[in-house]
Amino acid sequence: MRKLYTVRGLRIGRKLMADTPIEMNSLAGKKALSLVREADYAHAGDSEAIDMVFKKLPRDPSAKVLDVGSGLGATADYIRQQGWGEVTGIDRSHPSVIYANEHYKRCNFIHTDVVDSSLVLKERFDLLVSFNAFYAFDDQAAALQTLSHVASHESKFAIFDYVDRGGYASNPIMENGKPFLPNPLRLDKIERLLAENGWRLFTIEPLHPHFADWYGKLVERTKDAEEAIKESTPEGFYEHMLSLYTQLHDAIADNRLGGAIVRAVHGKAQL
Ligand SMILES: C[S@@+](CC[C@H](N)C(=O)[O-])C[C@H]1O[C@@H](n2cnc3c(N)ncnc32)[C@H](O)[C@@H]1O
Repeated sequence: MRKLYTVRGLRIGRKLMADTPIEMNSLAGKKALSLVREADYAHAGDSEAIDMVFKKLPRDPSAKVLDVGSGLGATADYIRQQGWGEVTGIDRSHPSVIYANEHYKRCNFIHTDVVDSSLVLKERFDLLVSFNAFYAFDDQAAALQTLSHVASHESKFAIFDYVDRGGYASNPIMENGKPFLPNPLRLDKIERLLAENGWRLFTIEPLHPHFADWYGKLVERTKDAEEAIKESTPEGFYEHMLSLYTQLHDAIADNRLGGAIVRAVHGKAQL
């Protein structure tokens, strides 16, 4: 019989895993990460980070919220549980969307690339949020343009993400021959990027010390969970994960990488 690996209830055939390079942004990677996080999160800071984003936003359970790059769905569900709105998530990973719809039934998850989302989303959103997903968009300008088409008149957009503090792009952390974080935010360029694509910059909240603290703890929790991770993932996965998050923590400690919340408002801006 073909051996199956189980990652917290998810069964993955050995053949599939053997043919697929180990990747943190895969469904299996996100599941392994959730073993060392509070829940099915694949962003820094777990629910503390979600609270930071929402603390400056009105609590309105009827608000329409779009979680862009929703991953396994726990972030969307936490937002709903806290009474911040009715949440739709979008993600380009089909297995993640299937998982999210199975596990977080009170939210709605749709499979689409962000740049195609205006073709599939039928409603307008009062609030858009994105947790550690914007850095992964191939075309951030096109993503912002498209999202401006699904935003309501006075919509707000909060981007919680990694920041390239200088020197990161020329020496990125690599995963399987590609940058692990392809496009972290550039805080000196974000105002223009937003303005050219339908959004006005409101505020930037740097979170570099928080990112250092969160990733220091994540590395420690990964080491503590070595046995559990090895039991539920294919050979080499634990070492891969520990190496990536150690490099990430080092880059943050060296002030090459950090994090921030960028808040924007829908509408034309003049620079
Ligand atoms: C690091 S995970 C974060 C997931 C989730 N926001 C969370 O905090 O748990 C990044 C997510 O962005 C999604 N993503 C990357 N590029 C995307 C794109 N162009 N359109 C939609 N989703 C994308 C990935 O599939 C992945 O689920």
